[in-house]
Amino acid sequence: MQQTTKSAAICVVGAGHVGLVTGACLADMGHRVACVDVDGEKIALLQQGRLPIYEPDLQPLLEKGAASGSLRFTTSYEEALEGVEFIFIAVNTPSTPEGAADLRHVRDAARCIGQALKGGRPIVVNKSTVPVGTSETVDHILSAENSATEGLPVVSNPEFLREGTAVHDFFHPDRVVLGCRDPEAAARVAALYRPLNSPILITDVKTAEMIKYASNAFLATKISFINEIASICEGVGADVTQVALGMGWDRRIGPDFLRAGLGYGGSCLPQDVRALSHMAYIYVSHRQLLNAVMQINVDQRRRLVRRLREVLGTMEDKPIAVLGLSFKPDTDDIRDAPALDFIRLLEYEGAHVRVYDPQAADQARAELPDIAYCTDPYEAAQGCLALIIATEWDEFRSLDLARLKECMAKPVLADGRNVLDPTTVRQHGFTYLGVGRPEQVQPPIILEPGQREA
Ligand code: UGA
Repeated sequence: MQQTTKSAAICVVGAGHVGLVTGACLADMGHRVACVDVDGEKIALLQQGRLPIYEPDLQPLLEKGAASGSLRFTTSYEEALEGVEFIFIAVNTPSTPEGAADLRHVRDAARCIGQALKGGRPIVVNKSTVPVGTSETVDHILSAENSATEGLPVVSNPEFLREGTAVHDFFHPDRVVLGCRDPEAAARVAALYRPLNSPILITDVKTAEMIKYASNAFLATKISFINEIASICEGVGADVTQVALGMGWDRRIGPDFLRAGLGYGGSCLPQDVRALSHMAYIYVSHRQLLNAVMQINVDQRRRLVRRLREVLGTMEDKPIAVLGLSFKPDTDDIRDAPALDFIRLLEYEGAHVRVYDPQAADQARAELPDIAYCTDPYEAAQGCLALIIATEWDEFRSLDLARLKECMAKPVLADGRNVLDPTTVRQHGFTYLGVGRPEQVQPPIILEPGQREA
């Protein structure tokens, strides 16, 4: 169990976020990686050394892999599978209208592997999030397609990478989870991860798959919990940021994922909570908790719109600025982005929305064709009656408030991510609306052990 694998031939199926990061990082660890995807345009871009996604720290790995020949991209399964020891499946599993995970891409990937593999006994490692209980799908398809793929060992290896920090997360995982019936196959996959020095849990396939759903659903629950506390804070006049600070120091709670705001988005948390709730329904378990998590999440956007309505009166024909489109900072991903949901609500109120986002504007144009796209926060704020921070890009923390106020017709600032200091914003003459923050914020005093009170 202690061995490491120095240089293996690996195929990664799917050149999306997870596939690209996994492939590039494995290549950086000294393996020979071929990434295969059916999207010819995406592969052509990658072959030219260009990334189809925005992910910090990935471009240098792509260049390094291309230069050394350890990272290749192709649309041909035959070529990608030649002589491989491991096949990572990293295709997406979007939601069906009922909220279940759609396994179409996983099935297609397994079928293509089944049709193209000519020999050898590679281990198939599934990184795609599949509902617990459908783990044997890959097994079945591989066995049905081809005698070469019949009975290949399949290891479930849920991924815990976050967009925006995915490269860092790959090299510094809190844990690696492997689910497999065949302990030898699990040990070989574990050997790939040994150099990362993280704990590795080897368990059965269903448990591994459930760890993924439970982890994402718990993170979403933490966010909805603090958002619910924020809503109560608004009622009683407490400050949710300091509540989170005080809670987070309790080691049993921890400080992460306690940032109140417009709620969670992205391609993972919303979809995984929906899928787990669907599983609860199928297995006649309680769905109330997860359903409340989802309801609180969407209500976060509606609550801020209601508060704006209270300050501005009707928003019909009024220009409103929104800063941030992506579902979180450091990514251009707008899938299930709270900002988009929020903008749609503003449009429904009749507002003319002007937006600025440092990365995601091009992605949003097709979904939101009727809003004005601006090149900086001040252009977005021009003539507006309110400005809302919907995504906490770093550059919004240091906005020139005096300049912003000059640009606006009415100085109303709704801080949907609690990134600004309310007192400073108010001192600049703005009406400030935070999430779960009182009219008068008393700054916290933190005394370190041994320090005397001033
Ligand atoms: C999430 C998980 O964090 C990863 O571990 C997992 O691998 C990934 O899903 C996945 O399943 O692929 P990601 O979707 O990249 O990662 O985004 P997160 O960093 O988890 O943020 C999700 C959303 O929660 C964002 O919209 C963010 O703004 C929001 N959030 C996060 C809050 O509103 N408050 C917080 O305190 C933290």
